[in-house]
Amino acid sequence: MKMSPSRRTALQALALAAGGVALPGFANPAGSEPTLDQLARGPSLDALARMKGLRFGSTLGSLGRASRFHDTAYRELTGRECSVLVAENETKWPQMRPDPNKPYDFRAADEMFAWAKSRGMALRGHTLLWLEAKWLPGWLNALNYGSGDGEAARRMLDDHIRTTCSHFGDSIESWDVVNEAIAPETGELRRNVFSAPIGGVEQIDLAFRLARQHAPKAQLVYNDYMSWGGGNNARHRTGVLKLLTELKRRGTPVQALGIQGHIGANPSEAPAQRTAEWRRWLDDVMALDLDLLITEFDVNDKGLPADFSQRDAIVAAAARDWLDVTLAVPRLNRFLCWGLGDKYSWLHDFDPREDKLPKRPLPYDDQLRAKPLRTAIADALRAMPAR
Ligand code: G3I
Repeated sequence: MKMSPSRRTALQALALAAGGVALPGFANPAGSEPTLDQLARGPSLDALARMKGLRFGSTLGSLGRASRFHDTAYRELTGRECSVLVAENETKWPQMRPDPNKPYDFRAADEMFAWAKSRGMALRGHTLLWLEAKWLPGWLNALNYGSGDGEAARRMLDDHIRTTCSHFGDSIESWDVVNEAIAPETGELRRNVFSAPIGGVEQIDLAFRLARQHAPKAQLVYNDYMSWGGGNNARHRTGVLKLLTELKRRGTPVQALGIQGHIGANPSEAPAQRTAEWRRWLDDVMALDLDLLITEFDVNDKGLPADFSQRDAIVAAAARDWLDVTLAVPRLNRFLCWGLGDKYSWLHDFDPREDKLPKRPLPYDDQLRAKPLRTAIADALRAMPAR
């Protein structure tokens, strides 16, 4: 049987991880990555994407412990590789309106978006309604609507979506209207402050209708992190498909599914079955007449070997496998990473490694040197069918 290059690289890395000897004929995968100078002379990831009819992008942010937007080298790398920008946190409800007694604060998003526009980049908005209560403003969660006060709750949602969409206007080409509505543990809808007064699916339907009204030209997206594999991911996929089916049945103006793409790199899962199930699920989504985006791609290196070279090879192989299947969907037209360099990845805080070593989930390392993951993404873009 012919083995794909990505699988060979993963096997080699695993052999090394197990203390084995490198398979003959394989160079150190980290040794062959192009330098920044070489990359600058070659096509950007966005240029490779455009050759196939899609656009490549990433996220920047300025809030929190370190501003990657104000890190000039990081920002310039984003400008060079990407033609789509999404704010990592700056267009979220709690960040724009931490205090209900004060007006919305759009300054952080405006500053980044002005830069992106000056570079001719398209903008994605993330996110108008993040269903999980812990990511809604604390003051909003503290409101007690009760089940009878649907009107006040609807007014609150209307005020938020109208204020936000009106501020950014047509500059945002695509909005993640609703984010992460399904609990992976159950496949059911999450509950929040709007569940009793408005309803579960009803608040999602309403958010899309308000977004259509206040951002008439934007693509309206449902965004979530279900991926391939069994367990919670399987339940998550089922729940998301059920939700999308119901939204379509109701005539909700949802136009696309955003697949976040926060994938793992566990080579022990049965690859053929995993791939077949994922492909089937993507087909089911496509049957609902939706466009597709990858909105937040990165590869969690949890449980992988400490050695950078081995780890990077497994991460790159996992990415290539997943991207080959996902990018094959003809209606997928945007591909965004959740950052380009490891230094600022959310995973350092949210899912640190047990050995406390730095995470390496993104295409560039802490010094912004390209890693095998950058090559894997470029190769996947070169190999994918044109649309
Ligand atoms: O802005 C405040 C700052 O004022 C405060 O001093 C500081 C104290 O902790 O917190 C700052 O906010 C943090 C924010 O990031 C900005 O750095 C929040 O605590 C922190 O929870 C927030 O984390 C973000 C998380 O979403 C929750 O919003 C991550 O950076 C961001 O990468 C992550 O992104 C999500 C996507 O939106 C949805 N999909 C999954 C993805 C990864 O979790």
